[in-house]
Parts: sequence; C-alpha cells; structure tokens
Amino acid sequence: MAFDNLLADRTGKMGVNVIREILKVVSQPGMVSLAGGIPAPESFPIDIIKDLTDIVVEKYASGAFQYGPTEGFWPLREALADYLKDREIDAGAGEILIASGSQGVLDAIGKVLITKGDRVAVEAPTYLGALQAFTPYEPEYVRMDTDDDGLIPGSLETVLAAGRIKFIYLVPTFQNPTGRTIPLERRREIAAIIKNHNALLVEDDPYGALRYRGRDITPIKALAPENVVYISTLSKVFAPGLRIGFCHAPEQIRKWLVIVKQGIDLHTSTFNQALAAEYIAGGYLDNHLPKIIDLYRPKQEAMLSALDAYFPEGFKWSRPEGGMFLWVEGPVGFDMEELYWKAVKRNVAFVPGKYFYTSQQEGIETMRLNYTMANEETIENSIRILSEVIQS
Ligand SMILES: Cc1ncc(COP(=O)(O)O)c(C=O)c1O
Repeated sequence: MAFDNLLADRTGKMGVNVIREILKVVSQPGMVSLAGGIPAPESFPIDIIKDLTDIVVEKYASGAFQYGPTEGFWPLREALADYLKDREIDAGAGEILIASGSQGVLDAIGKVLITKGDRVAVEAPTYLGALQAFTPYEPEYVRMDTDDDGLIPGSLETVLAAGRIKFIYLVPTFQNPTGRTIPLERRREIAAIIKNHNALLVEDDPYGALRYRGRDITPIKALAPENVVYISTLSKVFAPGLRIGFCHAPEQIRKWLVIVKQGIDLHTSTFNQALAAEYIAGGYLDNHLPKIIDLYRPKQEAMLSALDAYFPEGFKWSRPEGGMFLWVEGPVGFDMEELYWKAVKRNVAFVPGKYFYTSQQEGIETMRLNYTMANEETIENSIRILSEVIQS
C-alpha cells in the first residue's frame, strides 16, 4: 500500500529535518558535540527529585496520578504566579497555563492563531523548534533584522507597517541560536511599537534564569502585558524530561489555548506538575539554581577564552551574560557547512548557522556553539581544533 498517498497536504510540505540529517554523525563514538542544545545531566537535581517524589506521594496521594484540569495543577499554577512576580510579571495563578514543555505552548499557539498564508514575523536567525511548531499550519514567515543587540526595533516597525502580521515570535533573552539579549531600552521601543500597532508578540523565555553575569532585564511582557503571550519552561532549571512549560497569555487567547490543549493531550502529567510545584514552592529551585549557574559559568568562560586565544582574525562571536549558546560569524562568504564536515573528521561538531534562518541563503558564514555538555578542558581543545581546521 502506498501510504505516502495518505499524508495530509500540509504534512507533505513539512519536509525532512535537514539539521537532524547532518547531525547524525554527532552520535559517533569519540565525537565532541558543541552542536546540541540540551542541559548538562549533572544539572539535574536527582537527590532532590527523590525527596520530592516522597513529598508528592505523601501530600497529594492519588491526586497526583489522576486526570487533572487542562489549565494545569493548581499548586503549580500558584507557585508559578509567585515565580513570575520575581520576573516583574503580574499574573494570577488562574491566568497561568501549564503545557508539555514550552514546545507544547508553541504548537498550541500555531494551532490557535495560524490560518494558511498568515504572516508570522520572526527574527533572522530564530529558534528552529518554533518554526517546526508553526510550519504545519502553513504561515508565511516575514523576517526581521537583528544585530548584536537582537531584534532591531526599526525592522519590527517596518514589518508591522507593511501589512497584517498575525503575531511576532521573539526570544529576547540569551536567544537560541545567537545567545543575544535585547537591552532594556530596545525592549521599551518594541513594547511601544506593538502597543501602537495593536500587535501580538509571543515572547519565548526559556533561558532568562540562566544568568552568569549582570542583572536581569525586564521581560517585554511586563512592558506591554496586553500584547504579549509570555512562555517559559522548567526544562533548563529543573529537568527537561519532565516536560513542564507554561504561559501567561491575554484572556481572549488563553481560553482558546485551553480548548486546543484538550485535544492535544487533555493535560500535562499531573505527577510531574506536582513535583514541579513542590520544587518551586518548597524553595528547592532557589537553592538549586545557583548550582546550575556555577556549573555553566566556567564552561562558558572556557569557551570565550578559547575563542579569544585561538580563533583567527576576521571571526567574531557573541559574549552573552547567560544562556547556553554562542554565535560565531566568519568573514563574508566563509562556508560554515564546509567547515562542519572537515571538523567532524576531527571529532568536533557544531551547528552551521544557516539552518536557523527561514531562507538558507542566509547565515552561510555563521555557526552556533553550545557549551553546556562538555567539560572545560574538552571545550578548550575542541575550539583549538576548530581554529586549526579553519586555518587549514
Ligand atoms: C527558544 C526555545 N524555546 C523553546 C524550547 C523548548 O523547550 P521545552 O519544550 O523543553 O520547554 C527551547 C529548547 O531548547 C528553546 O531553545
């Protein structure tokens, strides 16, 4: 039977994930991967999870294993409302929705908002997983320009003035893939622009809590609460396998997100939500987060120092104050994918940056480097190897 004939029209248009194809080599023995985007396993609070499991079973008993409301487990929604207050976001517990990772929110957003052909504005480059979540709903992407400080407000203004945009998708803090953060002054400009155009912004903030230097910056959500769907996650500060993400959206959108989530998975795992509720409300997160930061800070510093020491003239890179990624730009015309294939022969992998653009004619000379998975010595060695390959 020709099952290909059974695929929905939109499925056929989704295409294979090219990046997955080129990263297949990453699992070869001996390969050092600066390509991934996943937290270090040592960052998971395994001992705490044992205690939390006992607490949850004791405190909620069968309630932790029963079906629950689509909106989320109430004690977790309460804990997250307090957590968001610390980030200057004023949210009642009843306004917070829990999802299966922030990816779960992104999918629901696509389902609720995108009609085929709708224009969705994204940064160039942007988070690939968001494009994967939105693409099945067949939007037309409109690219917005960025520089070392992230989205350029003038580019947002131009895009909004040029025609109807369904929503803008942005990762303002320690962006994936660039690590860049939009400074407060720009955030104010962006907030003013979206208010002025009555536009909707989806602010994805998975990395904001991973700050190694400097001070927290107000989320755009706090500057334009009515115009922003704020999305965050416990994947980087607890454990990604638990799949706990959440969002705070304007009321008219929130109610539809709940309806579509009913169809997606009824609700996120009650047990995992209960663990997360106790992790936050019991003060374990406050205690554990500094340990995650102390684990990543030296890794990031090792990578920055190695780039300073080894990378040749003509290359530049971002110097983020947190997050999980650095972004390297080579001289114009330098082909990072060609470098990739040479580097994997020497057992070092990274992601060529062009894959983070909606058009792969862009970003040829860029790459994304991740530093959370390797130790400092390996990071230094692999940056040295990369620079040798570049110079050869
Ligand atoms: C910008 C961004 N958004 C969303 C996600 C998805 O995270 P999760 O679904 O684990 O919350 C990631 C994961 O790396 C990400 O980088």
